Amino acid sequence: MAALQLETDLLAQVGAGQLADSAEFAKAHNVDHQAVVGLLKSLVMADMVVMEAIEHSRLTVTPAGQLYVGVAAPEVQVFNAVPAEGITLADLKTQLGVAGDVGFKQAMQNKWVGIDKSGGEPKVVRKVESVQDTVLPILNALAAGQEGSINEAELMALMRRKLVAKEAWKTWKVSKGPCFALQRKKAATELTTDMLQSGAWRDTTFKPYNFDALGLPPSGGHLHPLLKVRTQFRKIFTQMGFEEMPTNNYVESSFWNFDALFQPQQHPARDAHDTFFLTKPAATPASNFPADYLERVKQTHQHGGFGSIGYGYDWKVAEAEKNLLRTHTTAVSSRMLYRLAQEGFHPAKYFSIDRVFRNEAIDRTHLAEFHQIEGVVCDYGLTLSDLIGTLQQFFDRLGLKKLRFKPAFNPYTEPSMEIFSYSEQLEKWIEVGNSGMFRPEMLRPMGLPEGVNVIAWGLGLERPTMILYQVDNIRDLFGHKVSLSMVRKNAICRLGL
Ligand code: PHE
Repeated sequence: MAALQLETDLLAQVGAGQLADSAEFAKAHNVDHQAVVGLLKSLVMADMVVMEAIEHSRLTVTPAGQLYVGVAAPEVQVFNAVPAEGITLADLKTQLGVAGDVGFKQAMQNKWVGIDKSGGEPKVVRKVESVQDTVLPILNALAAGQEGSINEAELMALMRRKLVAKEAWKTWKVSKGPCFALQRKKAATELTTDMLQSGAWRDTTFKPYNFDALGLPPSGGHLHPLLKVRTQFRKIFTQMGFEEMPTNNYVESSFWNFDALFQPQQHPARDAHDTFFLTKPAATPASNFPADYLERVKQTHQHGGFGSIGYGYDWKVAEAEKNLLRTHTTAVSSRMLYRLAQEGFHPAKYFSIDRVFRNEAIDRTHLAEFHQIEGVVCDYGLTLSDLIGTLQQFFDRLGLKKLRFKPAFNPYTEPSMEIFSYSEQLEKWIEVGNSGMFRPEMLRPMGLPEGVNVIAWGLGLERPTMILYQVDNIRDLFGHKVSLSMVRKNAICRLGL
Protein backbone atom coordinates (compact mmCIF):
# COMPACT_ATOMS: atom_id res chain seq x y z
CA MET A 1 0.00 0.00 0.00
CA ALA A 2 1.25 3.44 -0.87
CA ALA A 3 2.57 5.30 2.16
CA LEU A 4 0.28 8.27 1.55
CA GLN A 5 -2.82 6.06 1.42
CA LEU A 6 -1.77 4.35 4.62
CA GLU A 7 -1.45 7.74 6.33
CA THR A 8 -4.84 8.88 5.02
CA ASP A 9 -6.49 5.67 6.28
CA LEU A 10 -4.77 5.95 9.61
CA LEU A 11 -5.81 9.58 10.12
CA ALA A 12 -9.40 8.72 9.11
CA GLN A 13 -9.49 5.95 11.68
CA VAL A 14 -8.01 8.18 14.38
CA GLY A 15 -10.47 10.90 13.40
CA ALA A 16 -13.33 8.46 13.94
CA GLY A 17 -11.83 7.59 17.32
CA GLN A 18 -11.34 4.00 16.31
CA LEU A 19 -7.66 3.33 16.47
CA ALA A 20 -7.49 1.24 19.61
CA ASP A 21 -4.45 -0.79 18.70
CA SER A 22 -1.79 -0.09 16.12
CA ALA A 23 -1.07 -3.81 15.68
CA GLU A 24 -4.61 -4.45 14.59
CA PHE A 25 -4.42 -1.59 12.15
CA ALA A 26 -1.18 -2.99 10.72
CA LYS A 27 -2.71 -6.43 10.38
CA ALA A 28 -5.87 -5.12 8.73
CA HIS A 29 -3.75 -3.20 6.21
CA ASN A 30 -1.32 -6.02 5.75
CA VAL A 31 1.76 -3.94 6.59
CA ASP A 32 4.55 -4.46 9.05
CA HIS A 33 3.75 -3.08 12.50
CA GLN A 34 7.08 -1.23 12.57
CA ALA A 35 6.09 0.70 9.44
CA VAL A 36 2.91 1.85 11.18
CA VAL A 37 4.91 2.86 14.26
CA GLY A 38 7.30 4.90 12.09
CA LEU A 39 4.38 6.73 10.53
CA LEU A 40 2.82 7.35 13.94
CA LYS A 41 6.02 8.84 15.29
CA SER A 42 6.22 11.36 12.46
CA LEU A 43 2.59 12.32 13.12
CA VAL A 44 3.38 12.74 16.81
CA MET A 45 6.23 15.10 15.87
CA ALA A 46 3.70 17.21 14.00
CA ASP A 47 1.41 17.12 17.08
CA MET A 48 -1.31 15.52 14.95
CA VAL A 49 -1.78 12.40 17.07
CA VAL A 50 -0.86 11.15 20.50
CA MET A 51 0.19 7.58 21.24
CA GLU A 52 -0.44 5.64 24.37
CA ALA A 53 1.48 2.43 24.92
CA ILE A 54 -0.26 -0.91 25.37
CA GLU A 55 2.13 -3.37 27.00
CA HIS A 56 2.10 -6.97 25.81
CA SER A 57 4.01 -10.01 26.86
CA ARG A 58 4.02 -13.63 25.78
CA LEU A 59 5.77 -16.76 26.93
CA THR A 60 7.68 -18.52 24.19
CA VAL A 61 9.79 -21.61 23.95
CA THR A 62 13.38 -20.61 23.24
CA PRO A 63 15.33 -22.28 20.40
CA ALA A 64 17.08 -24.37 23.11
CA GLY A 65 13.68 -25.43 24.44
CA GLN A 66 12.35 -26.24 20.94
CA LEU A 67 14.64 -29.33 20.89
CA TYR A 68 12.40 -31.07 23.45
CA VAL A 69 8.93 -30.05 22.26
CA GLY A 70 6.97 -33.18 21.40
CA VAL A 71 9.84 -35.40 22.57
CA ALA A 72 10.67 -35.36 26.27
CA ALA A 73 12.41 -33.21 28.84
CA PRO A 74 16.19 -33.74 28.58
CA GLU A 75 16.41 -35.10 32.16
CA VAL A 76 13.71 -37.64 31.31
CA GLN A 77 15.64 -38.65 28.19
CA VAL A 78 18.69 -39.18 30.41
CA PHE A 79 16.77 -41.27 32.95
CA ASN A 80 15.34 -43.42 30.20
CA ALA A 81 18.75 -43.94 28.65
CA VAL A 82 20.29 -45.30 31.85
CA PRO A 83 20.07 -49.14 31.89
CA ALA A 84 19.76 -51.18 35.09
CA GLU A 85 23.52 -51.93 35.11
CA GLY A 86 24.43 -48.26 34.60
CA ILE A 87 26.32 -46.45 31.80
CA THR A 88 29.45 -44.33 31.62
CA LEU A 89 28.87 -40.57 31.32
CA ALA A 90 30.80 -40.53 28.06
CA ASP A 91 28.54 -43.16 26.51
CA LEU A 92 25.46 -41.37 27.78
CA LYS A 93 26.52 -38.13 26.12
CA THR A 94 27.41 -39.79 22.83
CA GLN A 95 24.03 -41.40 22.81
CA LEU A 96 21.97 -38.27 23.63
CA GLY A 97 24.05 -35.34 22.37
CA VAL A 98 22.98 -31.91 23.77
CA ALA A 99 20.07 -33.45 25.66
CA GLY A 100 22.64 -35.63 27.47
CA ASP A 101 24.55 -32.63 28.69
CA VAL A 102 21.61 -30.54 29.81
CA GLY A 103 19.61 -33.52 31.04
CA PHE A 104 22.36 -35.11 33.13
CA LYS A 105 22.79 -32.02 35.30
CA GLN A 106 19.06 -31.70 35.85
CA ALA A 107 18.58 -35.45 36.51
CA MET A 108 21.38 -35.28 39.12
CA GLN A 109 19.68 -32.30 40.73
CA ASN A 110 16.38 -34.14 40.76
CA LYS A 111 18.24 -37.07 42.36
CA TRP A 112 16.90 -39.36 39.65
CA VAL A 113 20.39 -40.63 38.86
CA GLY A 114 23.69 -40.86 40.68
CA ILE A 115 27.31 -41.90 40.13
CA ASP A 116 28.34 -45.33 41.24
CA LYS A 117 32.08 -45.86 41.63
CA SER A 118 31.92 -49.30 43.26
CA GLY A 119 32.78 -51.20 40.08
CA GLY A 120 35.99 -49.22 39.47
CA GLU A 121 34.94 -47.17 36.44
CA PRO A 122 32.33 -44.54 37.54
CA LYS A 123 28.93 -45.16 36.06
CA VAL A 124 25.64 -43.31 35.93
CA VAL A 125 22.95 -45.37 37.65
CA ARG A 126 19.24 -44.87 38.35
CA LYS A 127 18.28 -43.78 41.84
CA VAL A 128 14.50 -44.04 41.51
CA GLU A 129 12.12 -46.52 40.00
CA SER A 130 10.32 -44.24 37.65
CA VAL A 131 10.02 -40.54 36.79
CA GLN A 132 7.31 -38.26 35.56
CA ASP A 133 7.85 -35.68 32.81
CA THR A 134 6.34 -32.43 34.13
CA VAL A 135 8.32 -30.26 31.71
CA LEU A 136 7.10 -31.70 28.43
CA PRO A 137 3.44 -30.73 28.82
CA ILE A 138 4.47 -27.14 29.55
CA LEU A 139 6.76 -26.90 26.53
CA ASN A 140 4.10 -28.51 24.33
CA ALA A 141 1.41 -26.13 25.56
CA LEU A 142 3.55 -23.01 25.09
CA ALA A 143 4.68 -24.14 21.65
CA ALA A 144 1.01 -24.46 20.73
CA GLY A 145 0.38 -20.91 21.98
CA GLN A 146 -1.60 -21.97 25.05
CA GLU A 147 -0.39 -20.28 28.18
CA GLY A 148 -3.33 -21.70 30.15
CA SER A 149 -2.83 -22.64 33.80
CA ILE A 150 0.85 -23.24 34.10
CA ASN A 151 2.37 -23.67 37.50
CA GLU A 152 4.28 -20.49 38.31
CA ALA A 153 7.20 -22.25 40.06
CA GLU A 154 7.70 -24.64 37.13
CA LEU A 155 7.60 -21.74 34.74
CA MET A 156 10.22 -19.81 36.67
CA ALA A 157 12.47 -22.86 36.71
CA LEU A 158 12.20 -23.26 32.94
CA MET A 159 12.92 -19.58 32.44
CA ARG A 160 16.04 -19.94 34.58
CA ARG A 161 17.03 -22.91 32.46
CA LYS A 162 16.51 -20.69 29.37
CA LEU A 163 14.11 -23.16 27.83
CA VAL A 164 11.28 -20.64 28.08
CA ALA A 165 11.43 -16.84 27.80
CA LYS A 166 9.10 -13.94 28.21
CA GLU A 167 8.82 -11.77 25.13
CA ALA A 168 7.58 -8.21 25.71
CA TRP A 169 6.39 -5.73 23.09
CA LYS A 170 4.27 -2.67 22.74
CA THR A 171 1.47 -1.61 20.50
CA TRP A 172 -0.23 1.75 20.60
CA LYS A 173 -3.60 3.24 21.20
CA VAL A 174 -3.79 6.34 19.02
CA SER A 175 -5.93 9.42 19.49
CA LYS A 176 -6.11 12.95 18.11
CA GLY A 177 -3.34 15.38 18.95
CA PRO A 178 -3.64 19.18 19.34
CA CYS A 179 -2.98 19.73 15.62
CA PHE A 180 -5.07 16.85 14.35
CA ALA A 181 -6.29 16.99 10.76
CA LEU A 182 -7.40 14.41 8.26
CA GLN A 183 -4.62 15.49 5.90
CA ARG A 184 -1.12 16.40 6.91
CA LYS A 185 -0.34 20.00 5.94
CA LYS A 186 2.98 20.64 4.33
CA ALA A 187 4.76 23.12 6.58
CA ALA A 188 5.75 26.33 4.83
CA THR A 189 9.41 27.28 5.04
CA GLU A 190 8.98 30.95 4.18
CA LEU A 191 6.50 33.73 4.80
CA THR A 192 5.75 35.22 1.39
CA THR A 193 4.13 38.49 0.29
CA ASP A 194 1.35 36.43 -1.29
CA MET A 195 0.57 34.81 2.06
CA LEU A 196 0.46 38.21 3.73
CA GLN A 197 -1.77 39.73 1.07
CA SER A 198 -4.23 36.85 0.83
CA GLY A 199 -4.26 36.24 4.57
CA ALA A 200 -3.25 32.62 3.91
CA TRP A 201 -0.55 32.93 6.57
CA ARG A 202 -3.26 32.58 9.24
CA ASP A 203 -3.89 28.92 8.38
CA THR A 204 -0.37 28.09 7.36
CA THR A 205 1.82 25.89 9.46
CA PHE A 206 5.40 27.09 9.42
CA LYS A 207 8.36 24.88 9.68
CA PRO A 208 10.41 25.89 12.71
CA TYR A 209 13.82 27.34 11.94
CA ASN A 210 16.72 25.06 12.52
CA PHE A 211 19.27 27.34 14.06
CA ASP A 212 21.70 24.48 14.47
CA ALA A 213 21.90 23.80 10.75
CA LEU A 214 25.39 24.25 9.42
CA GLY A 215 25.89 26.61 6.52
CA LEU A 216 28.01 25.90 3.51
CA PRO A 217 31.67 26.11 4.46
CA PRO A 218 33.24 29.16 2.80
CA SER A 219 35.85 28.28 0.20
CA GLY A 220 38.31 30.72 1.70
CA GLY A 221 38.56 34.06 3.45
CA HIS A 222 40.19 37.23 2.28
CA LEU A 223 41.28 40.33 4.08
CA HIS A 224 39.91 43.61 2.80
CA PRO A 225 42.45 45.38 0.57
CA LEU A 226 42.33 48.48 2.77
CA LEU A 227 43.15 46.36 5.81
CA LYS A 228 46.07 44.75 3.99
CA VAL A 229 47.51 48.08 2.95
CA ARG A 230 46.91 49.46 6.45
CA THR A 231 48.93 46.56 7.85
CA GLN A 232 51.80 47.50 5.58
CA PHE A 233 51.68 51.12 6.68
CA ARG A 234 51.64 49.97 10.30
CA LYS A 235 54.73 47.91 9.64
CA ILE A 236 56.57 50.83 8.11
CA PHE A 237 55.73 53.03 11.09
CA THR A 238 56.69 50.43 13.68
CA GLN A 239 59.94 49.70 11.86
CA MET A 240 60.68 53.41 12.10
CA GLY A 241 60.01 53.32 15.85
CA PHE A 242 56.56 54.94 15.88
CA GLU A 243 53.90 54.08 18.45
CA GLU A 244 50.21 53.78 17.50
CA MET A 245 47.78 56.30 19.00
CA PRO A 246 44.34 55.29 20.28
CA THR A 247 41.88 56.23 17.54
CA ASN A 248 38.67 54.75 18.91
CA ASN A 249 36.55 57.91 18.94
CA TYR A 250 34.85 58.72 15.68
CA VAL A 251 32.72 61.24 17.54
CA GLU A 252 34.82 64.15 18.70
CA SER A 253 34.18 67.61 20.04
CA SER A 254 35.01 70.68 17.99
CA PHE A 255 37.38 71.52 20.82
CA TRP A 256 39.84 68.71 20.06
CA ASN A 257 39.14 68.59 16.35
CA PHE A 258 39.52 72.35 15.70
CA ASP A 259 40.07 74.69 18.67
CA ALA A 260 43.01 72.81 20.17
CA LEU A 261 44.58 73.04 16.69
CA PHE A 262 44.34 76.84 16.62
CA GLN A 263 41.76 76.59 13.87
CA PRO A 264 39.62 79.75 14.13
CA GLN A 265 35.92 79.34 14.81
CA GLN A 266 35.00 81.09 11.55
CA HIS A 267 37.18 78.79 9.48
CA PRO A 268 35.25 77.48 6.45
CA ALA A 269 36.12 73.85 7.37
CA ARG A 270 33.89 74.25 10.41
CA ASP A 271 30.92 74.86 8.17
CA ALA A 272 28.26 72.16 8.09
CA HIS A 273 29.01 71.85 4.38
CA ASP A 274 32.35 70.33 5.27
CA THR A 275 31.72 68.81 8.66
CA PHE A 276 29.10 66.37 9.95
CA PHE A 277 27.82 67.80 13.22
CA LEU A 278 25.90 65.57 15.62
CA THR A 279 22.37 66.34 16.71
CA LYS A 280 22.26 63.79 19.51
CA PRO A 281 24.20 64.49 21.67
CA ALA A 282 24.86 67.81 20.04
CA ALA A 283 27.47 68.99 22.50
CA THR A 284 30.19 67.92 24.91
CA PRO A 285 29.82 70.17 27.99
CA ALA A 286 32.93 72.34 28.43
CA SER A 287 33.36 70.84 31.90
CA ASN A 288 34.78 67.79 30.08
CA PHE A 289 37.73 69.82 28.84
CA PRO A 290 40.62 70.65 31.17
CA ALA A 291 39.58 74.09 32.48
CA ASP A 292 43.01 75.72 32.50
CA TYR A 293 43.87 74.39 29.06
CA LEU A 294 40.51 75.59 27.72
CA GLU A 295 41.26 79.06 29.05
CA ARG A 296 44.73 79.09 27.44
CA VAL A 297 43.23 77.99 24.10
CA LYS A 298 40.66 80.79 24.33
CA GLN A 299 43.29 83.39 25.16
CA THR A 300 45.54 82.26 22.31
CA HIS A 301 42.70 82.39 19.76
CA GLN A 302 41.67 85.85 20.99
CA HIS A 303 44.93 87.55 21.84
CA GLY A 304 47.71 85.23 20.77
CA GLY A 305 50.88 84.80 22.82
CA PHE A 306 54.12 82.88 22.24
CA GLY A 307 55.11 85.45 19.67
CA SER A 308 51.68 85.48 18.00
CA ILE A 309 49.01 88.18 17.89
CA GLY A 310 46.16 85.64 17.75
CA TYR A 311 43.04 86.01 15.62
CA GLY A 312 41.50 88.86 17.59
CA TYR A 313 37.92 87.56 17.66
CA ASP A 314 35.50 86.68 20.41
CA TRP A 315 36.09 82.95 21.09
CA LYS A 316 32.90 81.12 22.09
CA VAL A 317 32.88 78.03 24.23
CA ALA A 318 29.54 76.92 22.69
CA GLU A 319 31.31 76.55 19.36
CA ALA A 320 34.00 74.35 20.94
CA GLU A 321 31.35 72.17 22.61
CA LYS A 322 29.74 71.13 19.32
CA ASN A 323 30.05 67.41 18.62
CA LEU A 324 31.08 66.20 15.18
CA LEU A 325 32.42 63.19 13.34
CA ARG A 326 36.14 63.85 13.37
CA THR A 327 37.23 65.44 10.14
CA HIS A 328 40.88 64.41 10.42
CA THR A 329 43.11 62.21 12.56
CA THR A 330 44.93 65.35 13.69
CA ALA A 331 42.19 65.44 16.37
CA VAL A 332 43.74 62.23 17.70
CA SER A 333 47.19 63.83 17.58
CA SER A 334 46.01 66.90 19.52
CA ARG A 335 44.63 64.75 22.36
CA MET A 336 47.84 62.72 22.38
CA LEU A 337 50.14 65.75 22.46
CA TYR A 338 48.14 67.29 25.31
CA ARG A 339 48.47 64.00 27.20
CA LEU A 340 52.21 63.89 26.53
CA ALA A 341 52.57 67.41 27.98
CA GLN A 342 50.63 66.39 31.10
CA GLU A 343 52.63 63.17 31.61
CA GLY A 344 55.83 65.18 31.53
CA PHE A 345 57.32 65.66 28.10
CA HIS A 346 59.67 63.14 26.55
CA PRO A 347 60.61 62.80 22.87
CA ALA A 348 58.02 60.64 21.11
CA LYS A 349 56.99 59.32 17.71
CA TYR A 350 53.32 58.55 17.15
CA PHE A 351 51.15 57.38 14.27
CA SER A 352 47.50 56.66 13.57
CA ILE A 353 45.54 55.07 10.75
CA ASP A 354 41.79 55.32 11.04
CA ARG A 355 38.55 56.63 9.70
CA VAL A 356 37.58 60.27 9.25
CA PHE A 357 34.42 61.90 7.91
CA ARG A 358 33.77 64.85 5.63
CA ASN A 359 30.56 66.14 4.17
CA GLU A 360 31.84 65.96 0.61
CA ALA A 361 30.18 65.48 -2.75
CA ILE A 362 30.68 61.82 -3.59
CA ASP A 363 32.38 60.88 -6.84
CA ARG A 364 34.85 58.35 -8.25
CA THR A 365 37.61 59.50 -5.95
CA HIS A 366 35.73 60.98 -2.98
CA LEU A 367 33.63 59.46 -0.24
CA ALA A 368 32.14 61.03 2.86
CA GLU A 369 34.27 58.70 4.98
CA PHE A 370 37.78 57.50 4.37
CA HIS A 371 40.99 56.69 6.22
CA GLN A 372 43.84 58.96 7.14
CA ILE A 373 47.37 57.99 7.98
CA GLU A 374 49.20 60.39 10.23
CA GLY A 375 52.72 60.54 11.60
CA VAL A 376 53.89 62.83 14.43
CA VAL A 377 57.40 63.37 15.83
CA CYS A 378 58.02 65.47 18.95
CA ASP A 379 61.42 66.50 20.19
CA TYR A 380 63.52 69.49 21.18
CA GLY A 381 64.90 71.54 18.33
CA LEU A 382 63.26 69.85 15.36
CA THR A 383 63.52 71.79 12.10
CA LEU A 384 62.05 71.72 8.62
CA SER A 385 65.01 69.55 7.57
CA ASP A 386 63.93 66.93 10.09
CA LEU A 387 60.47 66.97 8.55
CA ILE A 388 61.85 66.66 5.01
CA GLY A 389 64.26 63.90 6.06
CA THR A 390 61.56 61.95 7.88
CA LEU A 391 59.18 62.26 4.93
CA GLN A 392 61.90 61.09 2.59
CA GLN A 393 62.52 58.02 4.75
CA PHE A 394 58.82 57.26 5.09
CA PHE A 395 57.91 57.64 1.42
CA ASP A 396 61.06 55.80 0.38
CA ARG A 397 59.71 52.76 2.22
CA LEU A 398 56.48 53.11 0.25
CA GLY A 399 58.46 52.99 -2.96
CA LEU A 400 58.01 56.71 -3.68
CA LYS A 401 61.58 57.88 -3.98
CA LYS A 402 61.29 61.12 -5.92
CA LEU A 403 59.68 63.76 -3.70
CA ARG A 404 58.98 67.46 -4.07
CA PHE A 405 57.54 69.85 -1.56
CA LYS A 406 55.30 72.80 -2.18
CA PRO A 407 54.51 75.51 0.38
CA ALA A 408 50.94 75.23 1.63
CA PHE A 409 48.68 76.45 4.38
CA ASN A 410 47.13 74.70 7.38
CA PRO A 411 45.79 76.66 10.36
CA TYR A 412 47.84 74.48 12.74
CA THR A 413 51.17 74.16 10.92
CA GLU A 414 53.78 76.68 9.92
CA PRO A 415 55.54 76.10 7.68
CA SER A 416 53.25 73.70 5.82
CA MET A 417 54.14 71.64 2.76
CA GLU A 418 52.20 69.59 0.29
CA ILE A 419 54.11 66.47 -0.70
CA PHE A 420 54.36 65.45 -4.36
CA SER A 421 55.84 62.32 -5.80
CA TYR A 422 56.81 61.64 -9.39
CA SER A 423 54.81 58.82 -10.91
CA GLU A 424 56.78 56.96 -13.59
CA GLN A 425 53.54 55.35 -14.67
CA LEU A 426 51.63 58.60 -15.17
CA GLU A 427 54.76 60.55 -16.06
CA LYS A 428 53.77 63.41 -13.79
CA TRP A 429 54.03 64.72 -10.25
CA ILE A 430 51.09 63.69 -8.06
CA GLU A 431 50.11 64.92 -4.63
CA VAL A 432 50.67 62.24 -2.00
CA GLY A 433 50.26 64.07 1.32
CA ASN A 434 50.27 67.16 3.46
CA SER A 435 52.65 68.09 6.25
CA GLY A 436 54.03 70.78 8.49
CA MET A 437 55.40 71.87 11.84
CA PHE A 438 52.76 72.40 14.48
CA ARG A 439 52.44 76.03 15.49
CA PRO A 440 53.49 77.26 18.94
CA GLU A 441 49.90 78.63 19.28
CA MET A 442 48.85 74.97 19.35
CA LEU A 443 51.70 73.42 21.35
CA ARG A 444 52.37 75.96 24.12
CA PRO A 445 48.82 76.13 25.52
CA MET A 446 49.03 72.32 25.85
CA GLY A 447 51.98 72.76 28.17
CA LEU A 448 54.70 71.39 25.88
CA PRO A 449 57.98 72.97 26.99
CA GLU A 450 59.65 75.85 25.21
CA GLY A 451 62.01 74.49 22.55
CA VAL A 452 59.93 71.42 21.75
CA ASN A 453 58.87 71.20 18.10
CA VAL A 454 56.47 68.78 16.52
CA ILE A 455 56.62 67.74 12.88
CA ALA A 456 53.68 65.93 11.35
CA TRP A 457 52.26 64.71 8.08
CA GLY A 458 49.12 63.07 6.83
CA LEU A 459 47.93 61.12 3.83
CA GLY A 460 44.95 59.07 2.77
CA LEU A 461 44.85 55.28 2.81
CA GLU A 462 42.47 54.90 -0.10
CA ARG A 463 44.51 56.61 -2.80
CA PRO A 464 47.62 54.38 -2.54
CA THR A 465 45.39 51.32 -2.21
CA MET A 466 43.50 52.25 -5.39
CA ILE A 467 46.77 52.62 -7.23
CA LEU A 468 48.12 49.32 -5.91
CA TYR A 469 44.96 47.39 -6.71
CA GLN A 470 44.29 49.30 -9.93
CA VAL A 471 40.79 50.23 -8.81
CA ASP A 472 39.66 53.50 -10.36
CA ASN A 473 36.41 53.99 -8.43
CA ILE A 474 36.71 54.43 -4.68
CA ARG A 475 33.21 52.99 -4.25
CA ASP A 476 34.55 49.63 -5.45
CA LEU A 477 37.11 49.66 -2.68
CA PHE A 478 35.42 51.03 0.39
CA GLY A 479 33.21 49.03 2.76
CA HIS A 480 31.91 45.50 2.77
CA LYS A 481 30.71 45.52 -0.83
CA VAL A 482 34.16 45.12 -2.26
CA SER A 483 34.16 42.37 -4.87
CA LEU A 484 35.56 39.17 -3.43
CA SER A 485 36.63 37.92 -6.82
CA MET A 486 38.65 41.12 -7.33
CA VAL A 487 40.44 40.44 -4.07
CA ARG A 488 40.89 36.78 -4.93
CA LYS A 489 42.22 37.37 -8.45
CA ASN A 490 44.41 40.34 -7.69
CA ALA A 491 48.12 39.75 -7.45
CA ILE A 492 49.64 40.15 -4.00
CA CYS A 493 50.23 43.86 -3.56
CA ARG A 494 53.16 45.24 -1.68
CA LEU A 495 54.15 48.74 -0.94
CA GLY A 496 57.70 49.75 -1.57
CA LEU A 497 58.55 47.82 -4.75
N1 PHE B 1 45.15 67.06 8.95
C1 PHE B 1 45.63 67.29 7.61
C2 PHE B 1 44.53 66.86 6.64
O1 PHE B 1 43.46 66.50 7.06
C3 PHE B 1 46.88 66.53 7.33
C4 PHE B 1 48.04 67.00 8.17
C5 PHE B 1 48.45 66.31 9.24
C6 PHE B 1 48.71 68.16 7.83
C7 PHE B 1 49.47 66.72 10.04
C8 PHE B 1 49.76 68.59 8.59
C9 PHE B 1 50.15 67.89 9.70
O2 PHE B 1 44.72 66.91 5.44
